[in-house]
Formats: sequence, C-alpha cells, structure tokens
Amino acid sequence: MKKAVITGATSGIGLEICRLFINKGYFVYGIGRNFDKIPFEENFEPLLIDLKDREKLCREIKKIRNDVDVLVNCAGVGYFGLHEEISAEKIHEMTAVNIEAPMIITSLMLRELKRKGGRIINISSVTAKSSSPHGAAYGATKAALTAFSESLFDEARKYGVKVSVIHPDMTDTAFYNNADFECEEGIEFSLSPIEVARAVETVLDAPYPIRDITLSPQKHRIHRK
Ligand SMILES: NC(=O)c1ccc[n+]([C@@H]2O[C@H](COP(=O)([O-])OP(=O)(O)OC[C@H]3O[C@@H](n4cnc5c(N)ncnc54)[C@H](OP(=O)(O)O)[C@@H]3O)[C@@H](O)[C@H]2O)c1
Repeated sequence: MKKAVITGATSGIGLEICRLFINKGYFVYGIGRNFDKIPFEENFEPLLIDLKDREKLCREIKKIRNDVDVLVNCAGVGYFGLHEEISAEKIHEMTAVNIEAPMIITSLMLRELKRKGGRIINISSVTAKSSSPHGAAYGATKAALTAFSESLFDEARKYGVKVSVIHPDMTDTAFYNNADFECEEGIEFSLSPIEVARAVETVLDAPYPIRDITLSPQKHRIHRK
C-alpha cells in the first residue's frame, strides 16, 4: 500500500487532499493539531504536531519517513492587515508553518523519496506571484515556498522525484476567518477545496513532473468585513 504524509490534514484543502489519497488507496499520515472533525475511519493515522515545534516535528517525521511515497505540504496560516499591525509572534508563526516546516520535512524525507521515485506537492498561493498589500508577510512566505519548490524541482528531477507547486486563489475554507476582508459569496467568486484537491490529483496521476498549477475562480471580488 502506498503511503503519503499530508500536513494541514485537519481542515479545508488538506482535509480534501487526505480524502483524495485515501480514496485512491493510500495510507495517510495526517499532520495537524485539532483532529476533532476528522471523518476517516481507516487508512489514516493522525500525527498531533504543532509545526512550530521543530524538535517534535523532526522526531515524528523520522519515525514514519521510511516507505513514504508522497509528501504534501498543505498546512498554512495567514494574518492580514497593515504590516505594522502584524506582531512578531504572528510573523514567526507564518514563517515557521508556511516555509520552515515544509523545508524541514522535505529535507528529512528526500532521501527516501529519491529511493522510491516519489512526489512532493506544495500548496502555495497566487499571492506568491503578485504584490500583496495587507498580506506582505504572508505573501512573502508563500513566494518563498514557491521559490523553494521551483529550485527543488530542478534539483530533484534527475533523481526521479517529481516536485509540484499549486497556486490556488481564494478558496472556500476557514483560512480567512481572521482576516479583515471576505470574499463575495457565490461559487463563481471562490474555489472549493475539492477543486484544489483535483489539481493535486492531476499532478499525482501525471507520468511526467508538473512544475506548477495555478487555479483561479471565474470572478474576483473581495470586500472589507
Ligand atoms: N483558502 C484560501 O483561499 C487559500 C488560497 C491560497 C492558498 N491557500 C493555502 O492552502 C493551505 C491550506 O489552507 P486552507 O484554506 O485549507 O485553510 P484552513 O482550513 O485554515 O487549514 C489550515 C491547515 O493548516 C494547519 N495548521 C495551521 N497552523 C498549524 C500549526 N502551527 N501546526 C500544525 N498545523 C497547522 C491547520 O491544522 P490545525 O488547525 O489542526 O493545526 C489546518 O489543517 C494553506 O497553506 C494556505 O496558505 C489557501
């Protein structure tokens, strides 16, 4: 049975990615902090890890990294507002969860993924590719994740590892609950987490490496809460 490690497994996009992998016959190690809403009864092992806790993260990944075929870095956190309103603690949290943890997990798993010809799929954001007023620090962490993914694509390709980065636009999850803006309601204004999981399925099923995918809803409209 193939195995996957998926961060952000407890909510939104990551939860749908877990569902996709389990439906495709994978055993999933899901990483998160709050597993209350997890619906999976089999082929899913929850790993209770705060991604800011580097020591625990390394310890737990070392226990399970053998025999894993796919790594999906989906966990993320965003704080929005004028940059002077973003505290040092929030900047640290975004940096640790959005870019440091994916780089650490990848580093710990890469030898095994090379041995298996595995895949790494990183969930970045369209904010990685544009200016993000009111989201400068969040956008910077996502731009870093995209830059990391693109370099790793070229570094790991000759060893048989397929690295992909997905750039979703506004997606209907809890992610922007603490933001000072919200997306217009209606399916044309945001993606569903299932649609992002389908993009993951596309890169997972491709016999060749797909460098990146960008997904946008049909229309863009956000307003202040
Ligand atoms: N929603 C959007 O519009 C959108 C657009 C572009 C990109 N994205 C990206 O998509 C990814 C998933 O976001 P989402 O929309 O699905 O948001 P979400 O529903 O808020 O899910 C975020 C996930 O990240 C995990 N996480 C956050 N901080 C963590 C920590 N310290 N330790 C461990 N896990 C942590 C959460 O798990 P716990 O709470 O259980 O710890 C949760 O599973 C993120 O990387 C985000 O940047 C989202």
